[in-house]
Amino acid sequence: MKRFENTNVLVVGGAGFVGSNLVRMLLAEGVARIEVVDNLLSSDPENLPNDPRVVLNACSIADDLFLKSLTDRFDYIWHLATFHGNQSSIHDPLADHENNTLTSLKLFNHIRDFKRVKKVVYSGAGCAVAEKTFGPAEATEETDLVAIDGDSPYSLSKIFGEFYAKYFFKQYGTPIVRARFQNVYGPGEVLGAGRWRGTPATVWRNVTPSFVWKALNGEGLTVENEGIATRDFIFVSDVAEGLMALALKGKAPEAYNIATGVETSISNLADLINRMTENRTPITRLPKRAWDHSGKRFGSTEKAKRDLGFEATTSIEDGLEATIRWTKENRKRIDHSIQKHNIHMNNK
Ligand SMILES: NC(=O)c1ccc[n+]([C@@H]2O[C@H](COP(=O)([O-])OP(=O)(O)OC[C@H]3O[C@@H](n4cnc5c(N)ncnc54)[C@H](O)[C@@H]3O)[C@@H](O)[C@H]2O)c1
Repeated sequence: MKRFENTNVLVVGGAGFVGSNLVRMLLAEGVARIEVVDNLLSSDPENLPNDPRVVLNACSIADDLFLKSLTDRFDYIWHLATFHGNQSSIHDPLADHENNTLTSLKLFNHIRDFKRVKKVVYSGAGCAVAEKTFGPAEATEETDLVAIDGDSPYSLSKIFGEFYAKYFFKQYGTPIVRARFQNVYGPGEVLGAGRWRGTPATVWRNVTPSFVWKALNGEGLTVENEGIATRDFIFVSDVAEGLMALALKGKAPEAYNIATGVETSISNLADLINRMTENRTPITRLPKRAWDHSGKRFGSTEKAKRDLGFEATTSIEDGLEATIRWTKENRKRIDHSIQKHNIHMNNK
C-alpha cells in the first residue's frame, strides 16, 4: 500500500522548487488528485509534472474569490507559498506581506473548520529562528522562544506563519504542524524562475544553484565574509520525504526541524563545487553583507528522528552530484530563465 493512496491533496506554492519535488513524490505515493495553487511569482508552470492527476490554479492563495471555491475536499494540505526570498523582501516588504504573511493567515482562516483534512503542513524556516552568531553554532532546537530581531521581512513572515499555525490550532483545532527547513538544494531549483522581484536575488536565488551554475560556466565563485558562515544543506528529496512524514506522523501544532544536522561552511561548499565541476577560476572574497547577521547554524535532528522516524539520507557529495547533473541536463531552460531578467539586471 502506497502512503497516500487515493487521497486528495492541496499543495499551495506547489509549482515552486520544493513544492514541485513534493508533487512528484506524492504522485509516486499513489495520490488520486493534487490541486496546486501558485501565482507563479517565483516559479514557472513547466516545473510541474505533466500528469492528469495534477491541476494547477495559477492564482494567489490570498485571492478571496479563489478561496470561495476551495471547499472541504482535501485529506492533506501543504502550505509552501512564500515571497522568495530575504533580499526581495527587504526591497519590497509589502509584496512580502501579501505573499508570505497574508497567504498563511488567509489560508489558515479559510480552512480552520474543514473536517476532512487530517494534517496541514506549514513550511517555516530554520533561518528565522536560529541564533544569530558567527561564533561556534549550537544545534537549533524546535523551541518557540524566538528573538524579535529578524534579518528581513521574509524571516518575520515565516515566524508569523508559525504564530498563526499555533493560534488556529488552539482556537479551532486546525491540525497544523510546522516544518522548519534548513537550506534546501537540488534538482528543480531554476535560477530566475518566475517574475522579477526587485533585486538580482530574483536570479541568484540561493547559494547552491548559483555556485553550481557559475562553476559550470567557468566563472569565479564569490564568498562573503571569508565564507565562514555555515549552513545545514539538505537535499530536496529528503525535504519532500520529511514533509510527507510530517503529514502522516506530525503532531499539531508542534514544530519539527527538517535538517541533516551537518554543518558546511560556504567556503567548503564553494571548494567542493569547484572540484566536482573542475572549475579552476579562483574564488573572489567579498565583505560581509550588511543585512545578514545569520552566521553559523545547523538544525537538531533528534525530534524528527524520534517522533517521525525521519532522517535525511543524502550526503552533500551525492546531493551535489545529482544537482550538477540536473543543471547540465537543463542548461537551456535555466539560461532562458536567467536571460529573461536581463533588462532589469542591466539596470542594477
Ligand atoms: N529552499 C529553502 O532553502 C528553504 C529554506 C527554509 C524555508 N523554505 C520555505 O519552503 C517553502 C518553499 O520554498 P522554495 O524554495 O520551494 O521556494 P519557491 O520560491 O520555489 O516556492 C514558493 C512558491 O510559492 C509561490 N507563491 C508566492 N506567492 C504566492 C501566493 N500569493 N499564492 C500562491 N503561491 C505563491 C511561488 O510562485 C513559488 O512557486 C517556502 O515557504 C520557503 O519559505 C525554503
